[in-house]
Amino acid sequence: MFIRLTHSVNGIMSDATVTLGITGVGHRGTSLLRNCAAMEDVRIRAVCDLQERRLDAAQHTLEEFQQPAPDRYTDHSQMVSEADLDGVIIATSWRQHIPFAIEAMEAGLWAAMDVGPASSLEECWELVQTSQETSQQCMLLENCCFRREPLSVLNMARDGVLGDLVHTECGYCHDLRPRLNATIGTSREETSIPMKNDRYYRSIHHEKRNGDLYPTHGVGPMAKCLDINQGNRFVSLSSHASKAAGLRDWGDRHLPDDHPNRDIDWSHGDIITTVLTCANGQTCTITHDVSLPRPDNSKRYCVRGTRGMWQDERDSIYIDDRGPDHEWEPAETYIDEYEHELWREYRNAGIEAGHGGSDYLVLRSFVRSIAQDVRPPIDVYDAATWMAIAPLSEDAIATGDTVAFPDFTDGNWLTDEPIFGLTGEVAEDRLSFSTLL
Ligand SMILES: NC(=O)c1ccc[n+]([C@@H]2O[C@H](COP(=O)([O-])OP(=O)(O)OC[C@H]3O[C@@H](n4cnc5c(N)ncnc54)[C@H](O)[C@@H]3O)[C@@H](O)[C@H]2O)c1
Repeated sequence: MFIRLTHSVNGIMSDATVTLGITGVGHRGTSLLRNCAAMEDVRIRAVCDLQERRLDAAQHTLEEFQQPAPDRYTDHSQMVSEADLDGVIIATSWRQHIPFAIEAMEAGLWAAMDVGPASSLEECWELVQTSQETSQQCMLLENCCFRREPLSVLNMARDGVLGDLVHTECGYCHDLRPRLNATIGTSREETSIPMKNDRYYRSIHHEKRNGDLYPTHGVGPMAKCLDINQGNRFVSLSSHASKAAGLRDWGDRHLPDDHPNRDIDWSHGDIITTVLTCANGQTCTITHDVSLPRPDNSKRYCVRGTRGMWQDERDSIYIDDRGPDHEWEPAETYIDEYEHELWREYRNAGIEAGHGGSDYLVLRSFVRSIAQDVRPPIDVYDAATWMAIAPLSEDAIATGDTVAFPDFTDGNWLTDEPIFGLTGEVAEDRLSFSTLL
């Protein structure tokens, strides 16, 4: 028995029913569907997937929540042009995220993309231009920005506890060797046919591309601490790839001799290290690490300022003149002290949701932005900037050059003010500040 939730969490409350469609109801899409289905001011009116069995499962999920049966589609273009929707959530495999968001905005809908890399710089520009031309918003559902710890650290950074920010580190470090190697056959393009259970959509990207393929979980929270696109911006990017040895080695040890993956010539280096520089003088390093042994799944967040540092992997903080001299302190003391208002209210409301609550918070901010017609806190400029790291790092690795980082805001970063994580009156003021659109 599921209970539909009343939403009263300050700053993420909406006051109208928002009708949504979801394209891609696989693992992630189903989890997002469940979160939305539990919100009393959201109606999932349409679902789209290439696979009928996934549409059946989505419909069944909505029945569990006593919601009406959704309209079912196997074609995203048809859904966005026909269904009566306010917005669309895109949780397909990576290649479709930007093209589908563009189609949604062209059809007069708001778009929310789950995370992934851009396939080219051109599509990032097209995403931004479409949002400007259609006046429709596009949000990246980067749930890591809404995790409790990075939100507390954002509060600490804004309060000056860490001093003047100088450097950040982050990454996506997750052993995906079994999944990446599970791809079979020769036609691995995910758009071609419904995926089989043993075909993992990310594999073709690792086969053909050499760059940071999953930058946004890492860079998102760090970019928000650094006020990227709102007072600061990335100005250059350099990137380096180690050799590609992990997937081949794993395949040699685990795949049968006649398995087609034994012949794949993987392009993607096992460790990709990217360095970004910022207009305000900071640096940010990103590590992409998914094809070597490692026991945990880490984003490797680290924020360094003139007065202190937070290191997520050690769960530790060191602040000049506050704790014991030259000794780490448990991060939780500070995470608790500087806990973000969104989190305090979220916990008080007793809501449970995926990824420790960050999935709920990121979806609520999309729903609220639609309902109140305000700019989402992770907007089209953030989406283009963070997703562009993938093709830019491919370019930097291929040429050995440091590449200039495009300014998707066209100079508006100079005057735009940070909105992420703000609540109350200041947020209301800034969220409706819309010089960019
Ligand atoms: N934010 C997070 O924490 C998080 C976690 C996991 C995955 N993801 C992202 O979610 C996305 C989906 O991942 P997943 O694990 O659910 O994959 P999945 O393979 O389980 O689901 C993808 C679904 O998209 C459908 N699909 C593919 N092409 C389509 C098309 N052209 N039209 C309609 N439907 C199409 C597939 O049939 C499938 O059902 C990925 O982009 C991934 O990066 C995000």
